[in-house]
Amino acid sequence: MKDAHDPAKNPRMALKSNNADMDIFIQSVVKGARQNKVPEDIINEFGKILESLRKDVVQR
Ligand code: HEM
Repeated sequence: MKDAHDPAKNPRMALKSNNADMDIFIQSVVKGARQNKVPEDIINEFGKILESLRKDVVQR
Protein backbone atom coordinates (compact mmCIF):
# COMPACT_ATOMS: atom_id res chain seq x y z
CA MET A 1 0.00 0.00 0.00
CA LYS A 2 2.85 2.37 0.82
CA ASP A 3 4.74 1.70 -2.43
CA ALA A 4 1.55 1.99 -4.53
CA HIS A 5 1.09 5.56 -3.21
CA ASP A 6 4.73 6.61 -3.46
CA PRO A 7 5.50 8.49 -6.72
CA ALA A 8 9.14 7.35 -6.45
CA LYS A 9 8.05 3.72 -6.60
CA ASN A 10 4.83 3.91 -8.65
CA PRO A 11 5.20 6.12 -11.76
CA ARG A 12 1.39 6.23 -12.19
CA MET A 13 1.19 8.13 -8.88
CA ALA A 14 1.67 11.78 -9.93
CA LEU A 15 2.28 13.21 -6.45
CA LYS A 16 2.10 12.27 -2.79
CA SER A 17 -1.33 12.49 -1.19
CA ASN A 18 -2.06 14.36 2.03
CA ASN A 19 -4.61 14.06 4.85
CA ALA A 20 -7.13 16.27 3.00
CA ASP A 21 -6.99 13.95 -0.04
CA MET A 22 -7.57 10.96 2.23
CA ASP A 23 -10.51 12.70 3.95
CA ILE A 24 -12.19 13.37 0.59
CA PHE A 25 -11.55 9.79 -0.48
CA ILE A 26 -13.16 8.30 2.64
CA GLN A 27 -16.08 10.77 2.54
CA SER A 28 -16.74 9.84 -1.09
CA VAL A 29 -16.77 6.12 -0.29
CA VAL A 30 -19.21 6.71 2.61
CA LYS A 31 -21.45 8.92 0.46
CA GLY A 32 -21.54 6.32 -2.32
CA ALA A 33 -22.27 3.54 0.16
CA ARG A 34 -25.18 5.51 1.69
CA GLN A 35 -26.61 6.31 -1.76
CA ASN A 36 -26.59 2.57 -2.39
CA LYS A 37 -28.25 1.81 0.96
CA VAL A 38 -25.32 -0.06 2.48
CA PRO A 39 -26.18 -0.64 6.19
CA GLU A 40 -24.54 1.85 8.59
CA ASP A 41 -22.81 -0.88 10.64
CA ILE A 42 -21.07 -2.15 7.50
CA ILE A 43 -20.09 1.43 6.51
CA ASN A 44 -18.65 1.90 10.02
CA GLU A 45 -16.67 -1.30 9.82
CA PHE A 46 -15.36 -0.50 6.36
CA GLY A 47 -14.56 3.08 7.40
CA LYS A 48 -12.32 1.76 10.17
CA ILE A 49 -10.42 -0.40 7.69
CA LEU A 50 -9.92 2.57 5.32
CA GLU A 51 -8.82 4.74 8.26
CA SER A 52 -6.25 2.10 9.29
CA LEU A 53 -4.61 2.52 5.86
CA ARG A 54 -4.18 6.31 6.19
CA LYS A 55 -0.59 5.97 7.51
CA ASP A 56 0.46 4.15 4.31
CA VAL A 57 -1.47 6.27 1.81
CA VAL A 58 -0.74 9.75 3.24
CA GLN A 59 2.92 10.57 2.59
CA ARG A 60 3.11 14.36 2.96
C1 HEM B 1 -7.67 3.56 2.10
C2 HEM B 1 -7.63 4.27 0.98
C3 HEM B 1 -7.00 3.75 -0.28
C4 HEM B 1 -6.85 2.47 -0.74
C5 HEM B 1 -7.32 1.17 -0.09
C6 HEM B 1 -6.14 2.54 -1.99
C7 HEM B 1 -5.75 1.44 -2.75
C8 HEM B 1 -4.90 1.50 -3.82
C9 HEM B 1 -4.25 0.38 -4.46
C10 HEM B 1 -4.44 -1.09 -4.08
C11 HEM B 1 -3.49 0.87 -5.46
C12 HEM B 1 -2.59 0.05 -6.41
C13 HEM B 1 -3.31 -0.23 -7.70
C14 HEM B 1 -2.46 -1.08 -8.63
O1 HEM B 1 -1.24 -1.22 -8.41
O2 HEM B 1 -3.01 -1.60 -9.61
C15 HEM B 1 -3.63 2.29 -5.48
C16 HEM B 1 -3.01 3.15 -6.37
C17 HEM B 1 -3.24 4.51 -6.43
N1 HEM B 1 -3.95 5.26 -5.52
FE1 HEM B 1 -4.90 4.55 -3.91
N2 HEM B 1 -5.90 3.85 -2.29
C18 HEM B 1 -6.40 4.62 -1.28
C19 HEM B 1 -6.37 6.01 -1.18
C20 HEM B 1 -5.92 6.85 -2.15
C21 HEM B 1 -5.98 8.30 -2.11
C22 HEM B 1 -6.53 9.10 -0.93
C23 HEM B 1 -5.47 8.75 -3.27
C24 HEM B 1 -5.32 10.17 -3.78
C25 HEM B 1 -6.30 11.05 -3.63
C26 HEM B 1 -5.07 7.60 -4.06
C27 HEM B 1 -4.50 7.64 -5.31
C28 HEM B 1 -3.95 6.57 -5.96
C29 HEM B 1 -3.24 6.66 -7.22
C30 HEM B 1 -3.03 7.91 -8.07
C31 HEM B 1 -2.77 5.37 -7.50
C32 HEM B 1 -1.93 4.95 -8.70
C33 HEM B 1 -2.83 4.36 -9.75
C34 HEM B 1 -2.16 3.24 -10.46
O3 HEM B 1 -1.20 2.63 -9.94
O4 HEM B 1 -2.62 2.91 -11.57
N3 HEM B 1 -5.35 6.47 -3.34
N4 HEM B 1 -4.49 2.67 -4.48
